[in-house]
Amino acid sequence: MAIISMANPKGGSGKTTCALLLATEIARRGGTVTLIDADPERWITKWGQLDDLPDGIQIVSDVTADCIIDKILDAQEQTQFVIVDLEGTANMSVVQAIGISDLVLVPTQGSTMDSQGGAKIIKLIRQQARALRREVPHTVVFTRTSAAIQTRSLSHVRELMAKAGIPTLRTSIVERAAFREVFAMGGDLPDLDHSQVSGVEKATMNAGEFADEVLAILKTQSQEVA
Ligand SMILES: Nc1ncnc2c1ncn2[C@@H]1O[C@H](COP(=O)(O)OP(=O)(O)O)[C@@H](O)[C@H]1O
Ligand SMILES: [Mg+2]
Repeated sequence: MAIISMANPKGGSGKTTCALLLATEIARRGGTVTLIDADPERWITKWGQLDDLPDGIQIVSDVTADCIIDKILDAQEQTQFVIVDLEGTANMSVVQAIGISDLVLVPTQGSTMDSQGGAKIIKLIRQQARALRREVPHTVVFTRTSAAIQTRSLSHVRELMAKAGIPTLRTSIVERAAFREVFAMGGDLPDLDHSQVSGVEKATMNAGEFADEVLAILKTQSQEVA
């Protein structure tokens, strides 16, 4: 059904975290998801090896530029959602994944310096859209934001993006230990040991709001096409 890619040439912007949160949240709601691991660091694959995969999730590993389109299209026949975790660079895999995606999410930390990686990928997305003569829906999602306050630098970056006509999600992914620990422990976010990891409920709620907003965008898109 839907192909969603995570793209930002900046490493550490939250691509892999967003990919995993979206996939596990959709699976928890009964959906089926393929996670395409196109990052040579293989974080998604390593996560998958730590524990049994949650129901509804499959992982396709070691995906490179020469096979990414085939792997995505094969996955699309098997599961309702295909979520592509891309490398932190602007390479051929990234360009190809952008070209085939229904939605490109651009995870970005909310500082001016960090948002420059986001700006670069948005330029690439827009060039691809022109080349392909189709819209490539995309949106920035702010990551690792403060739970307590809306920082000045985040407000500033939000303003800059609004001025540049760049869509941003209302929900941001807050900085939380649970989002790190799930990669150390494996499995699903709500199953983390609540006595060892703080804020699991809040993290799970945050992931839920994130998924709600992404799914709402996809729904609007499919209605527009219909
Ligand atoms: N919301 C978050 N809260 C806490 N840690 C985070 C969060 N998002 C990312 N991280 C941590 O930051 C690092 C980079 O995040 P990651 O998702 O791997 O980014 P990318 O895939 O863009 O390189 C990882 O160590 C990850 O665990
Ligand atoms: Mg990554």
